[in-house]
Amino acid sequence: YQVFVPPPKCLQKTFVAPQRHMFGPGPSNVPPRILAAGAEPIIGHMHPEMLEIMSDIKSGIQYAFQTRNNMTIAVSGTGHTAMECAIFNAVEPGEGVLTAVNGIWGERAAEMAERIGARVNSIVTSAGGYFTNEEIDQALTKHKPVLFFLTHGESSTGVVHPLDGIGDICHKHNCLCLVDCVASMGGVPLYMDKQGIDILYSGSQKVLNAPPGTAPISFSERACQKVFNRKTKPVSFFLDMTWLANYWGCDGKPARIYHHTAPVSAFYSLRESLAILAEQGLENSWQRHKEVAEYFHEGLETMGLKLFVKDKNARLPTVTTIVAPPGYDWKEITSYIMKNHNLEISGGLGPSVGQVLRVGLMGGNSSKASVDMVLEALRDALRYCHKSKV
Ligand code: GLV
Repeated sequence: YQVFVPPPKCLQKTFVAPQRHMFGPGPSNVPPRILAAGAEPIIGHMHPEMLEIMSDIKSGIQYAFQTRNNMTIAVSGTGHTAMECAIFNAVEPGEGVLTAVNGIWGERAAEMAERIGARVNSIVTSAGGYFTNEEIDQALTKHKPVLFFLTHGESSTGVVHPLDGIGDICHKHNCLCLVDCVASMGGVPLYMDKQGIDILYSGSQKVLNAPPGTAPISFSERACQKVFNRKTKPVSFFLDMTWLANYWGCDGKPARIYHHTAPVSAFYSLRESLAILAEQGLENSWQRHKEVAEYFHEGLETMGLKLFVKDKNARLPTVTTIVAPPGYDWKEITSYIMKNHNLEISGGLGPSVGQVLRVGLMGGNSSKASVDMVLEALRDALRYCHKSKV
């Protein structure tokens, strides 16, 4: 045979990934035990051992979400995939969706709902803020949506949104309550069933410390009633819950039908990360993230830095937002820290761009030793980065 495009020279180099302290908003560092699980031999995605792994993952997600929902699976994809899975399955074209926007994720949910022809309204508050239950109640009365979207851990602004009572308010309005817990799950108390959340999704790459690429999601009985009684098919075949429910053995049917080829290694890693969370205990993980975040926040304030979220109770323990130090270029700070400390912290995202530095201390990275490392790196950066005269 003859080929016309030669083999690329770049692929002749051996690839070795650098070791870094992953203290941005995600992905977080993956501990050796989870990496090793992902390096186990590949088996078929419908082999009995794989089906058992999927069943273990389902139990692990039920624990992490504090739910007994049967319809609990991991989507093959990142948090965005789960976000689309939730919206695409719960909403039909022409139906109303209300999104709470206090950062980037509410904006993204609105965009996804618009793309499938939903009637989208948003309530918007400034970056760093959140909504009262009364404001949500009023907006639901006004817009009468079938789905309300809220972000529990707003990683772009560093806010943890209160959840108590919101599920009940949604149900009073005959509306499903959809919550994004990508940045909060495992790091902040969260009770899917008790809090009346109808659809909840997360991601593997934050507190779970698994590689990016799998996303836990769960649907309440009320959500299932809506999802499985649609008049139209969801726009996405890949994310159609009728297929996925069967694929994950949640539909009660004896036979599993091939839907897609599961990311086998990613499921091994996800299972291991959920096993670690179960071993450590969710309550202990919540407590550790809280204590470490408080220690970090004290250290930042002692250095003279300011926290972006003024209300102490609304500070997300997993992702801290620091007011971008006045007079400095935030990009110079993050680059300096990467270059000199081999440590990732990040700038703002969406509405917080230019306003903040973001530090994520999630899962195994949530420790006082990590905090000390970040504080030292910041101290060093503020000493050596260029400061304009303001
Ligand atoms: C991603 O989740 C981010 O907050 O940057």
